[in-house]
Amino acid sequence: MAKTMKRIAVLTSGGDAPGMNASIRAVVRSAHYFGVDVYGIYRGYDGMINGSFVEMDDRSVSNIIQKGGTILKSARSEEFRTKEGRKKAYQNIKKFKIDGLVAIGGNGTFTGAEIFHKEYGVPCIGAPGTIDNDLYGTDFTIGYDTAVNTALSAIDKIRDTADAHERIFFIEVMGRDTGYIAVRSAISGGAEMALMPETKTSIQDVISKLKYGTSHSKASHIIIVAEGDEIGRATTIAEKVKKALPGLDTKVTTLGHVQRGGAPSAADRVLASRLGLGAVEGLIKGKTNVMAGVINRTLCYTAFKECISKKKPINNDLIRIIEVLNGRKYK
Ligand code: F6P
Repeated sequence: MAKTMKRIAVLTSGGDAPGMNASIRAVVRSAHYFGVDVYGIYRGYDGMINGSFVEMDDRSVSNIIQKGGTILKSARSEEFRTKEGRKKAYQNIKKFKIDGLVAIGGNGTFTGAEIFHKEYGVPCIGAPGTIDNDLYGTDFTIGYDTAVNTALSAIDKIRDTADAHERIFFIEVMGRDTGYIAVRSAISGGAEMALMPETKTSIQDVISKLKYGTSHSKASHIIIVAEGDEIGRATTIAEKVKKALPGLDTKVTTLGHVQRGGAPSAADRVLASRLGLGAVEGLIKGKTNVMAGVINRTLCYTAFKECISKKKPINNDLIRIIEVLNGRKYK
């Protein structure tokens, strides 16, 4: 029998992502719509341990749908990894009479929720909030679309100066384990190459591509590098290329945390609203230990275990587009 939800709590944890505020808003307003009280927990699991709970009403989420970051703040909690930390967290869950939890975040967030549920049986639902888009159980994560658009607007600007000075630019985008931001920003930015953990590219491939391009009157090149690429970070790759082709004018731009901020795109706001509502409805219906996601335009729930352990491969068609649209085979 599903536990009746009278009061739930919501938190954001891990790396922040544009659209987290829109999902907090959706959780708070959906819960109230169904007559359920909501508490916000500040600083993710750290706040659960320290008792940073605050009751939220509909007005406490006014005017946040368009804001980046998270009004609840975020953290990667070391203490929650310990049994003692989770015990303290549970004591606060009991103290504030919380019947269920919505955790907005990525892999680490759901790993924590899964263990916590196993130990204390608190019903918990996740909403995928990470710019990396590396979660199984949803086609897109909240924040990914905005991050790609942020990267793209930087790439467009760099393209202007790359063209003016006839330079080779290595642009590093986020993604320590995945090339989702790299692949989409590379296609939309018209990049010559994208290097990412999912594809094995040798430094020799990069050099051959550049040699071919420069010998066929290509004046500038844009190469997108996911920070987790197996060859190394963009600076390392650029140094290796410069050593082999000293005549080329190479530059590196690391986009970094700029990709995590800013107003969420319309797509992210819609996704966040849908998943916030989906998480609350799921809890009310008795679902637990699952993440709400959207696959093929349909709302679905996937066990945390699967979301954490399964890989969501990048569609090979997307990877091919970059190569095919960049001219003839060069090998
Ligand atoms: O998980 C999202 C992400 O932005 C990764 O792409 C990146 O590697 C990491 O977070 C950076 O984390 P932090 O802000 O803790 O340095």
